[in-house]
Amino acid sequence: MFELLDRDGYGRIGRLTTPHGTVRTPVLLPVIHPDPARQVLSPSEIRSTLGAEAVITSSYILRGRPELGERARSEGLHGLLDFPGTIMTDSGAFQQHVYGGVDVTPEEILEFQRAIGSDIVTPLDVFVEPDVPYAEAERGVVETLLRVRAAREQVGTRLLAVPVQGGLFPELRARSAQGSSPLADLLCVGGIVPLMESYRFAELVRMLADVRPFLSPERPVHLFGLGHPMLFALGALLGGDVFDTSSYHKFARRGSLLFPEGSMDLASVTEDFCGCSLCAELPLSRVARLPEDQRIRHLAAHNLRQCFLEIARVRQAIRDGELWELVERRSTAHPAMRAALLELRRHRELFLPVEPPSRTSFLVTSDASLERPAILRFERKLAAYREGRGSPSLTPFPGLGLRELERAPAAVRADPLSRTLWEVTTPIGPVPIELSGIYPVGPLLTPAEYAPEHRRSVPAEASPPPDTGPGSGAEQTGPETPLEPAPTSPGAHPTLALRHALGIIEWCWGRGVREALPLDRVEVHHSRSTGRMREILLDHEVAFIVGNDGLPHFTMAGGRWVQRLAPRPSYRVVAHADAVPFLREGRSLFSRHVLGADPAVPPGAYVLVVDEQDRLHAVGRAILAGSEMGRFLRGVAVRVTAHEHGPQ
Ligand code: GUN
Ligand code: ZN
Repeated sequence: MFELLDRDGYGRIGRLTTPHGTVRTPVLLPVIHPDPARQVLSPSEIRSTLGAEAVITSSYILRGRPELGERARSEGLHGLLDFPGTIMTDSGAFQQHVYGGVDVTPEEILEFQRAIGSDIVTPLDVFVEPDVPYAEAERGVVETLLRVRAAREQVGTRLLAVPVQGGLFPELRARSAQGSSPLADLLCVGGIVPLMESYRFAELVRMLADVRPFLSPERPVHLFGLGHPMLFALGALLGGDVFDTSSYHKFARRGSLLFPEGSMDLASVTEDFCGCSLCAELPLSRVARLPEDQRIRHLAAHNLRQCFLEIARVRQAIRDGELWELVERRSTAHPAMRAALLELRRHRELFLPVEPPSRTSFLVTSDASLERPAILRFERKLAAYREGRGSPSLTPFPGLGLRELERAPAAVRADPLSRTLWEVTTPIGPVPIELSGIYPVGPLLTPAEYAPEHRRSVPAEASPPPDTGPGSGAEQTGPETPLEPAPTSPGAHPTLALRHALGIIEWCWGRGVREALPLDRVEVHHSRSTGRMREILLDHEVAFIVGNDGLPHFTMAGGRWVQRLAPRPSYRVVAHADAVPFLREGRSLFSRHVLGADPAVPPGAYVLVVDEQDRLHAVGRAILAGSEMGRFLRGVAVRVTAHEHGPQ
C-alpha cells in the first residue's frame, strides 16, 4: 500500500495506493461533510478546482442520518459523495471528544464503513484527551488496542487505519504505537486536536518525537486533525505522511483566512495581497463585500488552496533536502510555532538514524539552524576523527574550504600522514583543513557571509585571530603561520591533495581503511575548471569519486577495497540470490529482496551490495535506512551506481 520514493529525514515522499487510486504523499485529505446539504464545497468541486485526489468523511455522521446512510449502502460512498478518488472514513471517536459519547458499537460502525465501500476504514478508538490522568489514558489505550485487534479480524484485507492514543504519556504512546504497528495499513496519531486548538505545539512536537521510534517505518503515518498549513512542514519533518483538514471550512465560517504564515481575519484585510488563483480572480477586498454564503465559499476555497499549495511546497522541500529550512521559516508564523522549534532542538538525537550524509545546501535561516541534526552528527564524527591524534594545531587560516587549501602552510603540505591536525576556523568551530569542504561545513551559508564586517574573505596581509573558545578542542600553537602564495594550478601540492583524499576516506570508512591504503599507489585528480578534487585512483583505476558535497563514494574498485578492510556487516546490504543477476545488470535492489543490512547506514549513504557469502555484486546509494530495508514490501532500497558484469 505504501512505497517510499524520496525523503529528507523523517519527511518522506511516498506513494499510497487504495482501491480508488494512488496518491503522492505527503497528502492532504479535506474533511467532507457526508451530507451534501452541509458541504461548503462539494467533493467534485474540491476535485476539479483544487485537485484533491483523496478526501475523508465521517461514517458516524453519515450513519446517523438514516436516509443518507441507506443511500450510501445502495449507491456506495463514492456515488453518494460523487467523488471517484480515495475516500477514507472516520469512526466517531472525534464526536466522542466533542459530545462526550457515541451511540454505536465498534462492530456496527466498522460494518457500516465496509458496507458503503470506504477505501480506508477506521475502528472506533477511544479519544484520549491530553490532560487526563495516567490511569484513564491507559484505559483508553488498552480499550483502543482491543478494538483494533477485533477490527483487523473483522475487515480482512480492507485497508485499516489504526489510531494511536496515549495522551501526553510517552510510555502509553509507545505501547499504543507498538501494539498498533503490525495491524495497521495506516498509523493514525490521534488525540491531538485539543493541542492544536490551544496552540500547544511544543507539546505536540514532544509527543510526536516520543512516538516516532515506535511507529513502523514501512507504514504511512496520519496526523489526525493537524489541519493548519503553518504546521504541515513541521508535521512532515516529524514523520507525517497524511494530513486532514477541516480548518479550511471552520476558519471560513469564522471569516478567517489561512496561510502557511498564519491566520488572518478577512475583516482586517484592506489590501489585495493574496496571489492564489482564486483571489486573483476575486480580490479579497471584494470578497469582504459578498453575501455571507458566497463569502464563506470563497474563504473555504482560498483556505483549501493555501493548504494544497503548502503541501506541494513541503514535498518540494523534501525533494530538495530543505525541509529543516522550511520548518524554521514557518516557525515565525506565531510564538507557539517558535516554541515548537525550540522543543524540536531538544530531540535532534531522534533524527540521526535517518539523517542523510549530505544535502545540496545548508542555509542558516534561524538561530536554531546550527543545532540541526546534521551539525550534531558532524560534531560527533569529528570527535572520533580527532581521537588519538594528539593535540590539534589551530592554524589561523582565513577563509573556509578547499579553495584556499592550496595556500596551506608548508608544514601542512609536507607530510600527508602527519598526526598533527591543522584546523581552520569555520562557523561551527575549528575543523581539520582536509574536512573543511564536506557537508555540512562546505555548503554552510551563514548571515555573517553577507555582513561586510564579518565576511570570511582572505585578507591581503594579516589573518584574523583563531577561535579557541571552550570546547573547541583546539589550541593555538605558537606564532601565526604565514600563508603561501596562491597556487597556479589545482592540485599543485601533491602531498596536500593526498592528505585531503586520505582525510575524506577516513571520514567515510574509518581509520583502518585509510591506513591500509598504499600511498605510492594512490593518485588524485582535480577538475581543471573548478580546481575541486574529483577522483581518487588506486593502481590507476578510479576507486572513489568525490561528489559536489566533498564526500567520496566508491566505484566497484573502491568498493572492493572497503569491503576487504571493513568487517561485516559494515556498509553492506545483503541481497537475496534471486536479485543477483539483476544487480549485475545494474538494476536497483528492491526492498523485498533485502535479507539484511548494516543498521548504521543512513538513507543517502553509499553501500556495498553483497550476497549471503559476502560476494560483492554492486555498489549504490541507499534510498532507505539500513534498519528499514526489507521491511517495505514495495519500492527500491538501493539505487545501483556500479556493478560487476556478466554471470557470476
Ligand atoms: N479525528 C481527530 N482526532 C481523532 C482521533 O483521535 N481518532 C479518530 N478516530 N478521529 C480523529
Ligand atoms: Zn487567496
